[in-house]
Amino acid sequence: SVQPTRDDKFSFGLWTVGWEARDPFGEATRPALDPIETVHKLAELGAYGVGFHDDDLVPFGADAATRDGIIARFKKALDETGLIVPSVTTNLFTHPVFKDGGFTSNDRGVRRYALRKVLRQMDLGAELGSKILVLWGGREGSEYDSAKDVRAALDRYREALNLLAQYSEDRGYGFRFAIEPKPNEPRGDILLPTAGHAIAFTQELERPELFGINPEVGHEQMSNLNFTHGIAQALWHNKLFHIDLNGQHGPKYDQDLVFGHGDLFNAFSTVDLLENGLDGVSPYDGPRHFDYKPSRTENVDGAWESVKANMRTYLLLKERAAAFRADPEVQEALAAARVGDLSTPTLKPGESYADLLADRDAFEDFDVTAAGAQGYGFIRLHQLAVEHLMGAR
Ligand code: GCO
Ligand code: MN
Ligand code: MN
Ligand code: MN
Repeated sequence: SVQPTRDDKFSFGLWTVGWEARDPFGEATRPALDPIETVHKLAELGAYGVGFHDDDLVPFGADAATRDGIIARFKKALDETGLIVPSVTTNLFTHPVFKDGGFTSNDRGVRRYALRKVLRQMDLGAELGSKILVLWGGREGSEYDSAKDVRAALDRYREALNLLAQYSEDRGYGFRFAIEPKPNEPRGDILLPTAGHAIAFTQELERPELFGINPEVGHEQMSNLNFTHGIAQALWHNKLFHIDLNGQHGPKYDQDLVFGHGDLFNAFSTVDLLENGLDGVSPYDGPRHFDYKPSRTENVDGAWESVKANMRTYLLLKERAAAFRADPEVQEALAAARVGDLSTPTLKPGESYADLLADRDAFEDFDVTAAGAQGYGFIRLHQLAVEHLMGAR
């Protein structure tokens, strides 16, 4: 069914449907939404979760009484609806104090302030039962190579993340940390620009097992990369801790479109991988989180339509992917393309390089002409995928 239910694990950021649609060229086109109403509406539409930056819920600089009141109302809404908070994150990008970044600002005072802001959000996230902290370093970067010592910045980034992990463990919060890569925007160049950079960085931390990534469809595509390949590699490293689903048309500004409204074929393979794992076993059980922005042209009703569109597109793709996998002709085409054969180890059990060198079939007698002349049948296979995606089969 394409009717979303809690089991689908769909979650939305407050900052997504609630985006007022202010852009660098124009004023807001929609009013702010009340987070409490958003919780109720998301639950009604079939989502299971909601995420937020600290400042999405409690306005920056609010006094303690205001903050406590908002949090109490928010908790009540969660209780009433059963919505959960699978992940939280911290805004280290809107206030001018963060114009040169948070953890990696050249100003040490700003770096210390950023740490405090994140620790406070971890306290709140833990209180709400959240187990994932998303770390999007939107302003960690530079416009000018001369202005940022990238190696020192990575030292400071590491120092910050090690502290967060220590805090989480000491307090018994049990957070897993998901670094969200992005190549640029709002900075000219952002540190940890792609999934690969971020995965490599996690290996340098004191507790690497607590750190993974939160890849966003559009952010990888802004770098002209294949998102499905990116998450497949993240899964291979056991680093897919969270996912931000949305749509993007290749390398240009961050469009944050509805999921599937950019590269639909890639969205199809993404859902196929997340749901079917290519071998029938889903390799990911975390939230299917939508991080998109309802376009500036839409009014509030349109923004809510876009919430439904994300979930409906995901479920339609899930149906199409299941039909693709169940089609006997697809199974036959997959076998003909020998997709499954790649899972067979290249060496025989226990075979050494000496054995390989002694195997004449592997080299001396290997028919390179025949191997070079064979067809792989990938186009026929992909045409079947296209036809399933188009609803033609
Ligand atoms: C982006 C980012 C931001 C979010 C981040 C969580 O699109 O550039 O995703 O929208 O703030 O996902 O902090
Ligand atoms: Mn984005
Ligand atoms: Mn995101
Ligand atoms: Mn986003």
